[in-house]
Amino acid sequence: MTTHDTNLEKILRDAGQMHLLSDFDGLSDAERDNLTKEITAIDFTIFERAKFFDEKNYESLAPIPIFSSERAEEEKETLESIGLGAIAEGKAGAVLLCGGQGTRLGYPHPKGMFNIGLRREISIFSLHFRYLKEVAERAGAWFPIYIMTSIYNRREIEEFLKEKAFFGYDPSLIFFFEQNMAPATDFDGKIYKSSPSTLELAPDGNGGWFSALVSCGYLDDVRRRGVEWLNVVSIDNVLQKTVDPRFIGATIAAGACCGAKVVKRADPDERIGLICENDGHPSVIEYYELDRLKKENTVSVEGLDYGVILNYLFNVGEMEKTLSSPLPVHRARKKIPYYDGEYRKPETENGFKYEMLATDLVERMPSCLAYEILREKEFAPVKNLTGIDSVDTAREMLLSAGYAL
Ligand code: UTP
Repeated sequence: MTTHDTNLEKILRDAGQMHLLSDFDGLSDAERDNLTKEITAIDFTIFERAKFFDEKNYESLAPIPIFSSERAEEEKETLESIGLGAIAEGKAGAVLLCGGQGTRLGYPHPKGMFNIGLRREISIFSLHFRYLKEVAERAGAWFPIYIMTSIYNRREIEEFLKEKAFFGYDPSLIFFFEQNMAPATDFDGKIYKSSPSTLELAPDGNGGWFSALVSCGYLDDVRRRGVEWLNVVSIDNVLQKTVDPRFIGATIAAGACCGAKVVKRADPDERIGLICENDGHPSVIEYYELDRLKKENTVSVEGLDYGVILNYLFNVGEMEKTLSSPLPVHRARKKIPYYDGEYRKPETENGFKYEMLATDLVERMPSCLAYEILREKEFAPVKNLTGIDSVDTAREMLLSAGYAL
């Protein structure tokens, strides 16, 4: 095949990405096939969607009512009995988001495999499964766990969890799926390559779970099982409580379509998305948007003190209503490795990754219960090796919470 006898050229010309074919004639047949496959798999609409949503308009922002941790404690018996009842009836499931690249941590394996133990091996995965198993035992029923991976880490995650026998969880209820990939570009929107015959692809963001769940067919599995609530969580919080009966009970009792665990902001500079109401609708403002809004000073951000921790409970029926229009795409400035005769790893940001965010799904929900959790009990993210939100801080918090490391 040459560059002239395919419609590849037309696709790329229309998209302003002809540079991707510059080495084409020098490639072997297998390399040409691969490059063609990767190019034809690109969803070019992401670039348009990204342009549109780069700078979002906020009409009027207001704090959202918070379901306080004190109230959750006071009402724990009622809430837990509602939550455990729903789990026992098969109405709840978990989605573990493990598709990220963990670039800040720099650990050469999937983050869930990171050993947070000091004297013995305690992987982050083991902490998640310990809690999940505990809930299943309390409810007297196993529930499905959908694990989102990426093309880069699926095999390693699957092998690791199988080798650990899912830490005692019922293997027949664990399902792996891969999120979609999006090409990374320079600041002018030109797609980077990672070799003459491959594109620099990155997972399409923590919000990619929903479209991936649909395209791999597991949404049908969710429906078939009668699961009404999916608890979507990040893997990198070592104190994450997934399918927490109290949280599920509170969301159901409130009659909300969605729940978000939130934490009181530690300080005004904490890099955390803030939950609020935008024009009467649940919304989350990312920390970088907050900086912009503060500068523009066109809308008040007073009183927005609670941040999201990437632990959301979505009503499946309500989520399905959002299927007809894809989530917006955000451009994230990143250091992106690229090939230009050799593979380079830049020291500074040189382009965009294109990501969907789980928070945008929250915005599609007519209502959301903002459920307060206590940081010391439930929020210890591992983003970096040292410093803020690091392995060090997570270990300290686990020790304070009574874990033997
Ligand atoms: P982050 O957005 O913090 O990304 O992920 P990350 O990959 O862990 O780390 P950096 O930014 O590269 O340093 C929050 C959660 O969302 C998941 C991650 O695996 C983590 O559980 N995630 C993120 C995905 O599943 N897919 C993505 O495309 C991005």
